[in-house]
Amino acid sequence: MIINYLVQPGGRFSGEITVPGDKSISHRSVIFGALCDGVTEVSGLLQGMDVLATIHAFREMGVFIDGPDGGHLVIHGNGLRGLSAPHGSLDLGNSGTSMRLLTGLLSAQQFDSTLVGDESLSKRPMMRVIKPLSAMGATINASANGTPPVQISGGSQISSQAFKLEIASAQVKSALLLAGLYADSPISVTEPVKTRDHTERMLADMGCEIETADLTIRLHPPSMLQAKAINVPADISSAAFFMVGASIARDSKLLIKNVGINPTRTGVIEILQLMGANINLLNPRQSTGEPVADIEVCSGDLQGIQIPESLVASAIDEFPVLMIAAACAKGQTVVTGARELRVKESDRIASMVTGLKVLGIDAKELEDGMIVEGGQIQGGEVESYDDHRISMAFAMAGLASQAPIKINDCRNVATSFPGFDQLAVQAGLNLEVV
Ligand code: S3P
Repeated sequence: MIINYLVQPGGRFSGEITVPGDKSISHRSVIFGALCDGVTEVSGLLQGMDVLATIHAFREMGVFIDGPDGGHLVIHGNGLRGLSAPHGSLDLGNSGTSMRLLTGLLSAQQFDSTLVGDESLSKRPMMRVIKPLSAMGATINASANGTPPVQISGGSQISSQAFKLEIASAQVKSALLLAGLYADSPISVTEPVKTRDHTERMLADMGCEIETADLTIRLHPPSMLQAKAINVPADISSAAFFMVGASIARDSKLLIKNVGINPTRTGVIEILQLMGANINLLNPRQSTGEPVADIEVCSGDLQGIQIPESLVASAIDEFPVLMIAAACAKGQTVVTGARELRVKESDRIASMVTGLKVLGIDAKELEDGMIVEGGQIQGGEVESYDDHRISMAFAMAGLASQAPIKINDCRNVATSFPGFDQLAVQAGLNLEVV
């Protein structure tokens, strides 16, 4: 079935909302819960298609998992060495995180495995994990252009390495740490800039010896991981759509509850504040090793800015909606140092610039970013390019547009944000699914 969004112009955001659980932490709960000794109870899990793909993969490898039901999941861990060979290939759908992290984990198992994905995932680069894992002793093959299917031969001995990563990628870092759980001695990974550290936090919580000094993480292969209850906070990447929506819609005041504010993820807040947004973090607290807060956002007069490159990694998934904020700001917004946007679920530089132009905004692609001139958003018909975050970003544009906006093919919103349309309507967006 084809799902399109039709958004009528105007509206304002008000009230209190809770967005679904964090995608990155949800994936890791399933993966590490499966590798633990004991039972892991998860609450607040994201029941999006991507996380369901990870759950399905572990069931295929013999892990007993109850749920998910209302964000509650119970994982009966098989221990670090208790996974069994899947019968067929593991289909990871649209999920790059599942594919990269599982490539790391499976490269250290005793059995062979094959990972496949949908059309979009089948175009995404895998050599970034295959190369360093091969250097650790893994045997992995991908298609000639380095994309899925990924075939992993079991029985390799993983040997320790000190890696210096060239690209800022939490998925690559996590894949290496997952393989490192099985290494013959401690491994170290040095990042070019700090990326989301949920893997490190969760492993430490489960009793693994893992130290971070500046940009280097050193992991000592553990003999076991101890199951712990996990409370997944709401996803700041999903909250971001509503932060921008409340900033650009007149007379808005919105409270987004219980959002993860891990400092490796808060670039979107810092960038919006630099643009002049009214955002306050209320009631900051800790929840199973991760900082959370309620986020209050009121309408603001946004200014265009040069986005500091130092904030790019911590806002990497939020650029589609940040470019909607830029379109509503006074003056020019420039993004550079963000080449990674070209290899996400779509080429997000091309997807956003093309759509913004359709809506009458002056936007230009740079090789590693884009330039957006703030102006009046018109109406029109834009493409999502099958990318969940492009669909949701253009939906928010309706709050400041002069005429209706139609967004084509929004099916993939379900990968990260099930119930987005109802929640957006509840907050005040004039959105209709057609
Ligand atoms: C993720 C890391 C990021 C991010 C993705 C989730 C993770 O990808 O874009 O949505 O959970 O580790 P990269 O590692 O490719 O930057």
